[in-house]
Amino acid sequence: MGFSTDAIHWGQKPDKESFSVIPPIYLATTYARKFDEEAPFVYSRTQNPNRKMLEENIAKLENGKYGFAFSSGVAAVTAVMQLLKPGDHVITTKNIYGGTLRVFKEMQKWGIKFSFVDMTQVENVERELKNETKLIFAETPSNPFLYLTDLKRLAELRDSFNREILIAVDNTFMTPYLQRPLELGCDIVIHSSTKFLNGHSDVVGGIVVTNRDELQKPLWYIQRAFGAVPSPFDCWLLLRSIKTLAVRIKQHCSNAKRVAIFLSVHPKVKRVFYPGLPSHPQYELAQRQMKDFGGVVTVDLGSRDNVKKFVENLKIFTLAESLGGVESLVNHSWSMSHSSVPEEEKRELGLTEGIVRLSVGIEDVEDLISDLEQALEKI
Ligand SMILES: Cc1ncc(COP(=O)(O)O)c(C=O)c1O
Repeated sequence: MGFSTDAIHWGQKPDKESFSVIPPIYLATTYARKFDEEAPFVYSRTQNPNRKMLEENIAKLENGKYGFAFSSGVAAVTAVMQLLKPGDHVITTKNIYGGTLRVFKEMQKWGIKFSFVDMTQVENVERELKNETKLIFAETPSNPFLYLTDLKRLAELRDSFNREILIAVDNTFMTPYLQRPLELGCDIVIHSSTKFLNGHSDVVGGIVVTNRDELQKPLWYIQRAFGAVPSPFDCWLLLRSIKTLAVRIKQHCSNAKRVAIFLSVHPKVKRVFYPGLPSHPQYELAQRQMKDFGGVVTVDLGSRDNVKKFVENLKIFTLAESLGGVESLVNHSWSMSHSSVPEEEKRELGLTEGIVRLSVGIEDVEDLISDLEQALEKI
């Protein structure tokens, strides 16, 4: 079946009792059972019908075997890190969502060792591989600079060193419609489903998908034992949203490309970061690895002062955290998404106070460009 057919139907059937086409929301916390008999659902933290439908659906879309839903993207990242034990070594990068970096810092207190490298060159990862390495963690495209990691090449490198090392990929910016890391040889996909998967800025959630049989039990144990699970209502909302994922993403991509081209020739814009522009240093990889280039465009406006004037004059783009909703948002990475990263580290990453990240929504693109144009005139 095609992507949208699976997105709309997989894991869900009309309700057996009421025949409702859309499955009901099962708010029950607990389920009646027969003494000494196995039951499909026991207690809602452990599993419930809405979460099960969502987990089966997203696993299918990522071409994985097992899906796990969490109460946030950060909880999903944490669950993957909880697969490790003290002394284990992780290779990752600092060019990553600030909250994920914060989780990594917390994990160091528990004895997990980290090597942070520039993952735009996978040879940098190769240099850090050692016997204790248990996980390679990539975010591609990365937040906020949209740097890419060559996932196929990364998996090949890992295979030639030790197939047991896990590769986890944060696929939040792409969704399975644009990029499927498991098909490229990686082992775990992570999402902040708060973003494009949900797409309506009304659910906080996280997803982990894997095709490794040996990870099914540990991930399920972590999910139910630590209990960072989403509510049945949030799972129901996410399933509803995923039905329109393909059409939304196509429009996000088309609008973002037009916005990126407009900004790339604007005299007030110092630099545009977008993997769909030939000026992106990894444009060739972007074309190979991704079906399209996504809905996020990052720009350098030169200074905090310029950013202030720009965001205060925007009328359609809203200054807000997050991304991936149908409405366009603007984020000042320095003071918002990356506020938890120390100043010195931000500068090392090339993150200055002039950087803004646009989440290009699916409004009429002419309106979005006019909005950006009039706000840039105020700088
Ligand atoms: C790439 C990426 N991963 C993970 C997260 C964390 O997700 P959440 O905010 O749902 O916990 C975010 C949030 O912005 C993100 O952008």
